[in-house]
Amino acid sequence: MLPALTPQEQRHSEAVAAAIRAALDAAGGWLSFERFMELALYAPGLGYYSAGAVKLGSGGDFVTAPEMSALFGRCLALQCAPLLAATGGEILELGAGTGALAETLLLALDAQGAVPRRYSILEVSADLAARQRARLGTLAPHLRERIVWLEELPRAALEGLILANEVADALPVRRFTLHRGALQELGVALASDGSLMHATRPPDARLVEACRALLGDRTGGLPEGYTSEVSLRLAPWIAALAASLGRGVLLLIDYGLPRSHYYHPQRSAGTLRCHFRQRAHDDPLINLGLQDITAWVDFTRVAEAATDAGLEVSGFATQAGFLSGLGIERLVAAAPDAVTRARLAGEARRLLMPEEMGEAFKVMALTRGHAAPLGGFGLQDLRRLL
Ligand SMILES: C[S@@+](CC[C@H](N)C(=O)[O-])C[C@H]1O[C@@H](n2cnc3c(N)ncnc32)[C@H](O)[C@@H]1O
Repeated sequence: MLPALTPQEQRHSEAVAAAIRAALDAAGGWLSFERFMELALYAPGLGYYSAGAVKLGSGGDFVTAPEMSALFGRCLALQCAPLLAATGGEILELGAGTGALAETLLLALDAQGAVPRRYSILEVSADLAARQRARLGTLAPHLRERIVWLEELPRAALEGLILANEVADALPVRRFTLHRGALQELGVALASDGSLMHATRPPDARLVEACRALLGDRTGGLPEGYTSEVSLRLAPWIAALAASLGRGVLLLIDYGLPRSHYYHPQRSAGTLRCHFRQRAHDDPLINLGLQDITAWVDFTRVAEAATDAGLEVSGFATQAGFLSGLGIERLVAAAPDAVTRARLAGEARRLLMPEEMGEAFKVMALTRGHAAPLGGFGLQDLRRLL
């Protein structure tokens, strides 16, 4: 059971539904799931990320690793410091949420005497960018003055680190389903009572080509009704990020799997999930504009896109492997007192345990012109699975 909407939330959701109905009318009665997801998450002033919902943190709909514990950012800082010294010393964070990771990273790097030359943030949500400004505006002037918000990816090649935690899973995806052995695209249409419903239509050439690349000839081995998703935006996004990276590392952290696990016959309902007030469910057509909609990341697709864009896949690990490799246990053990140590130990468990974030989240490092070993990938490397 999901919590009931307040009257104000109900009104907001109806306004988002009206915008989606108008888009359906304009498009002849059917929208791809990608377009629906784009409207539900990013329609100006209405979408989940564009409007004022709390979104992240314990009072919101879901908790990300940097929201859960500063240990996450402090571990990352251990990796960043040598990287910043070896490159041009810049960080670009994509989709910085509430600014939690930026704050922790800057404080931890400052403590190591390794403050980045510049810390840029590219954020598509005006609401979250405003919250980032308010939060990061309280940092000491020597840190605050290094932070800039970008409207688009930098034109001049960045030297340092590009970082994206839980951003790739927020890119709108196309959905497909197998019906009587044939591929169908799953989108959204209007039911006779005016509500939104899932509806199929024959896939267009781009989706057919993408599915062929994912599934090969395996559609015959997949069960009837098999439904999954594919991000056609992922490869262009990686290519754009690669074009912005002169020398250094692009670090992607997200829920995700190598392709053979992602499109396994037993994963017959795909990975699409919605998050509403700390509950995960699988109905994207309710709570419009009030809930997050995500799909896991096909890391094989990321690796292929990165390689095509001239980057090297330099590391792939579970979040647990990555944080352990960076020494999260040492950070916990170094806590100044027993109470703090117990709290940090609890937070570390949530970041590391397989049934929490440890296994579902993966970390991929994509590099250009940076041959030095990367902290965090020493203990584990899943590249063979890609
Ligand atoms: C799930 S939240 C994660 C926030 C933060 N990184 C964290 O870990 O707490 C997704 C974030 O990505 C942003 N976002 C979505 N698509 C984006 C894009 N194409 N470029 C930059 N930011 C994006 C959202 O507005 C939001 O800040």
